[in-house]
Amino acid sequence: MQQLVYYDEEEEWAKALLLYNAALKEISTKLEILNNEFKLAHQYNPIEHITSRLKSAGSIARKLRIKQKELTVENIVRYINDVAGIRIICSFTSDIYRMAAAITKQNDVTVLKVKDYIANPKPNGYTSYHMIVSVPIFLSNDVINTKVEIQIRTIAMDFWASLEHKIYYKFEGKAPEGIREELRQCADIISFLDRKMLSINESVNNYHQDFNSNQVLNNDIDGIPNSLKPLYGSVTAD
Ligand code: GTP
Ligand code: MG
Repeated sequence: MQQLVYYDEEEEWAKALLLYNAALKEISTKLEILNNEFKLAHQYNPIEHITSRLKSAGSIARKLRIKQKELTVENIVRYINDVAGIRIICSFTSDIYRMAAAITKQNDVTVLKVKDYIANPKPNGYTSYHMIVSVPIFLSNDVINTKVEIQIRTIAMDFWASLEHKIYYKFEGKAPEGIREELRQCADIISFLDRKMLSINESVNNYHQDFNSNQVLNNDIDGIPNSLKPLYGSVTAD
């Protein structure tokens, strides 16, 4: 990262990296909390795993070159939405929408852009749910809303995207039509698998519910008793 921008902008870039890094931490913590809440309520993790990264200097420079913009900190912040990126790998497609809704609902998160490549896959077969959101970063004398790209996928979608990415690079973006067609077919298989797994999971849940028909399964954590809620944020008089 050090040699990305000109010497006179080094300090500006260091501040930008501090913000993007902080934004990654804020979003990661939110996701971890949601995952833990869900685990407690439903005895399973909607999130398989989360990865996060700051975009490499090379990728930032390449992207600005493609956009025909000069390599300045202002242009990076203005034109590159994925300097800070988080990838959430979910178990089922339904979990993707559940996580996206939970993120969207948070008061301090602003959703700037959504691309639903699950409802509308890319022509090459790529599927994923993309959001660009911003979170406030509290500094000593300032609050800066900082953007993060969030990609939400199932394990199967991630498997496809990882391999497609490698193949794409091997052919420098110009894979022969035969190979592209095979990748599209693989994307169909992936989407079939996700639908199948989801329906199996629904059957399992129904079975489980029948089995426990006498129990009320509504144990969401937002069912924290009203009388207790204010106590979490208050102190008693000495
Ligand atoms: P960039 O692709 O990042 O320049 O921005 P964009 O405006 O096209 O955003 P989009 O939401 O379409 O894609 C953002 C990111 O999603 C990319 O940087 C990749 O990480 C991922 N992505 C998008 N399309 C593909 C694809 O066809 N294959 C793979 N493997 N990943 C993709
Ligand atoms: Mg990207």
